Amino acid sequence: MNPKSNVTESLDNTFRTSFPLDTTVVSLVVGLVVVLTTYWITSRKTSPASTANPTATTSSTKKSIYGTENRGPLQVKPVSPDFEWDKVEPLKSYPFKDGDYKLTMGIKTITADDWLLIEPTYKSRIENKRQIIRDQHPDYAHRSDIRKSTVFCAGDGEDSLREFYDTIMHYMTSKYPQYFVVDGDYIHNKIMDWKLPRNAGDQTPDQLLNYLVDTIEEDFIILKKDPTQIGKVDGDEYHFKAGVFAFAAGFNPSDRFNKPLSFIHHPIPGYEEKLKVSMNRFFSRLAPGNFVTRSNFSVQTHHKFYTDDQNKGHNSPKDYLQEPLDYDKCDFDNEVHYRSERQVLTKLPKTEAVVFTIRTYLMPMSHFKYETPEVRRRFAGQIRGIPDDIGQYKRSWEWGPPVIRYMEELNEQAAAA
Ligand code: HEM
Ligand SMILES: *[C@@H]1O[C@H](CO)[C@@H](O)[C@H](O)[C@H]1NC(C)=O
Repeated sequence: MNPKSNVTESLDNTFRTSFPLDTTVVSLVVGLVVVLTTYWITSRKTSPASTANPTATTSSTKKSIYGTENRGPLQVKPVSPDFEWDKVEPLKSYPFKDGDYKLTMGIKTITADDWLLIEPTYKSRIENKRQIIRDQHPDYAHRSDIRKSTVFCAGDGEDSLREFYDTIMHYMTSKYPQYFVVDGDYIHNKIMDWKLPRNAGDQTPDQLLNYLVDTIEEDFIILKKDPTQIGKVDGDEYHFKAGVFAFAAGFNPSDRFNKPLSFIHHPIPGYEEKLKVSMNRFFSRLAPGNFVTRSNFSVQTHHKFYTDDQNKGHNSPKDYLQEPLDYDKCDFDNEVHYRSERQVLTKLPKTEAVVFTIRTYLMPMSHFKYETPEVRRRFAGQIRGIPDDIGQYKRSWEWGPPVIRYMEELNEQAAAA
């Protein structure tokens, strides 16, 4: 049971013992609940942050947190003055449930305040990513093509990249004023201790992409419609036009650059039947000022953030047969990792590009020791619920059986302790 529900339960108990449940109290309480609920529903209707139903509005008619014309700067609440970037509790990204794994959009509305996060991984992830995009990371010492595979800007993506840059700099100074301090035309990042231009100005796309890597832990993809592709296969869809995809989990982002959404997702079994139509509709209707999140998870047998030849079944030779990994050979402390990605989608008001940010959580499987038995049971249950085709895609025929067994053994140890 989580701490929150413990609190509710003990409040409940206090209430019950100190107030005998006579009818006056009951009717008072019922009355209060009705009044509060009515107030809550009305205030939700008028609060700008919660008008966020992307299917009910379009960018041209919507009054948003950018102001009436969707053109002003984004309004973001600052974190509390005693927020400490290296002490904050990181999000637990466990988007799994005990049961069948279903291929769905799985999206949820959030507010602008929850878009980009700073957690204790901030510094090390940025340092890691800086090495990846400069072809200087020791894990890929034999390669010199990683920047080409991870950093992108098409000619027709440049205006949106500039708009995104200004949006991000404004966002970080608004949300984290203690760490992003405006200093004339520059912003001083006090965590990394460097200064970067406050606005895109006349910086080149390459410089802007580098500065963005220096500023946010999240990867980001900018997608736009491409009128030159109308008439081609899926040519009316949003296309991947710019961004940094440094933490790619099992594909080479350069194969997907400048391509429409359906092509980007082509290796996913069931995409055309189960996701294509709703995803395209969602992308078109998403309005500036709306923020929507989804998360996914998988398992990988190495520690790398960027990989283009592992993780996914389609990276194996054609007639390769996936066999369960030998439990005794699995190194759950160093090699086998849990990976989860928290993604947020929004639309930029001026150039109307869709922005997709991806925050990667990667932890050794043994960290599940610190979780509750219920989380481990749920995780094992979700792996059992992966259907054949997705199992092939995620390679869970290999890692699934040993990871399930590991979760069960951790639970047996916890029960015996
Ligand atoms: C609502 C938006 C989106 C949804 C619902 C979605 C859904 C998915 C799903 C279900 C997968 C399979 C892996 C998994 O999550 O279990 C996937 C993989 C992937 N997605 Fe998305 N996606 C979305 C947006 C995007 C965007 C904007 C990009 C931009 C480039 C993107 C790029 C990819 C790539 C490259 C893969 C890996 C494909 C492969 O294995 O080759 N996705 N997506
Ligand atoms: C999660 O989804 C993203 C994009 O939709 C994709 O790039 C990534 O490979 C997926 N990651 C995992 C861990 O399944």
